[in-house]
Amino acid sequence: MSTPQNLYRQKLTSAAEAMRLVCDGDSIIVPTGVAEAPSLLTALSTQRHHFRDVKVSQILAVGKYGYLDPETAANVRHVALFFGAATRAGGQAGWVDFIPNNFSEVPTQIERGQIPAQVVFSMASPMDEKGYFAIGLGADYTMAAIAKARVVVLEVNPNVPFAYGDCHVHISQVTALVESSEPVREVGLPTIGPVQTAIAQYVADFIDDGSTLQIGYGGIPDAVVMQLTHKHDLGIHTEMIGDGILSLVECGAVTNRRKNYLPGKMIATFALGSEKLYRFMHRNPMLEIHPANFTNDPMLAGMNDNLVAINATLQIDLLGQCGSESLGYAPFSGTGGQSDFVRAANRSRGGKAFIVLPSTAKNDTISRIVPILAPGTHVSTSKNDINYVVTEYGVAQLRGKSVAQRARELISIAHPAFRSELTEKAQRMNVL
Ligand code: COA
Repeated sequence: MSTPQNLYRQKLTSAAEAMRLVCDGDSIIVPTGVAEAPSLLTALSTQRHHFRDVKVSQILAVGKYGYLDPETAANVRHVALFFGAATRAGGQAGWVDFIPNNFSEVPTQIERGQIPAQVVFSMASPMDEKGYFAIGLGADYTMAAIAKARVVVLEVNPNVPFAYGDCHVHISQVTALVESSEPVREVGLPTIGPVQTAIAQYVADFIDDGSTLQIGYGGIPDAVVMQLTHKHDLGIHTEMIGDGILSLVECGAVTNRRKNYLPGKMIATFALGSEKLYRFMHRNPMLEIHPANFTNDPMLAGMNDNLVAINATLQIDLLGQCGSESLGYAPFSGTGGQSDFVRAANRSRGGKAFIVLPSTAKNDTISRIVPILAPGTHVSTSKNDINYVVTEYGVAQLRGKSVAQRARELISIAHPAFRSELTEKAQRMNVL
């Protein structure tokens, strides 16, 4: 009889054997960050010389696997949907590919075949008695890929939480299973200095009790979280759940009680944090993990009244165009959900979208507020969407403002050493 337990036994194999399911030319979809499947990616790395033209597509690869190797990129090549430390150098050197995207749209692109998905390698929780696994560390685009792929291989690990939400895969959808038991990779909070704290204090002053938060990626969004411990009845509708959000739950600042959309529930699409966070996610009715076409859809996320989105950028020009993900043409990260949540907060009644950045880089030698973005810069948030911009010198509010007003607002929050130069350049460009 094909009970879930019988099917489990039939589909159980080794990581090395599972590689036989991959064909030359396949694209393998791997979920975001720590939801990647270490045993499967290690086996792929070991056997990479036997393959031709296999691609591995992922947001934020965290492990430095052997296949991330320029010498064997014709065998197995990484395709970044968002660069991180493991892939950035390859992206800048050209042996890691890049597909620009809004996170909210990746599932649909997979569904429509624009991003190919013949194979899925994902971490998963142990199976429940009804035959379901949870892929709650990263439902992101992986649920869409599972529905589309020829081959689905799950790496079942007892340290992966069984999360609730739309992140469950039935044994009948799975081609093969491998088991592992290593702890899920932990990612610590970034170091937060006085500049980040100053920016965070400005943002925190704008956040009213009862607001719903999206917390983006990088040091400053996490610094903001630390300034919110005295707030009341905050809610969470975000892309990434991390230890910062967990600390707000623990101190009682997050209750989700005043959310008007999905009240009582925290919503996210992937997790990145500590073992404590992963334990918190296990069978916790307070949290739901959903695919990114749900969490990040600007229309759905914008149904939360008083949605506050906090996201970081690397540089911004005097019109308010944000180069959040590259330094000139050199890629650094990706759009992720930045543009999605800026738009969501703009739609939300009482919503506020914050873009945060230190005023300078490289020991105050470079202004991050610039007259024009460096050639090749990838624009993540457009001039039409930008609203609040925050540095350690204050807050610029740009939505509804003219080009000259924007330039004045942004120059007023630039580092004082660069303000006259920025003003002169703006005058030469006939902006002021
Ligand atoms: N010129 C030269 N170097 C610059 C620079 C500039 N204009 N701006 C930043 N840098 C350097 C910094 O000095 C720093 O270098 P260091 O690591 O040697 O100190 C590095 O670039 C990173 O800058 P930092 O401000 O510390 O970035 P961060 O770690 O806080 O991360 C990003 C910010 C890149 C993650 C963020 O901008 C991003 O990816 N945004 C898009 C994605 C997003 O917002 N998603 C939201 C949903 S999760």
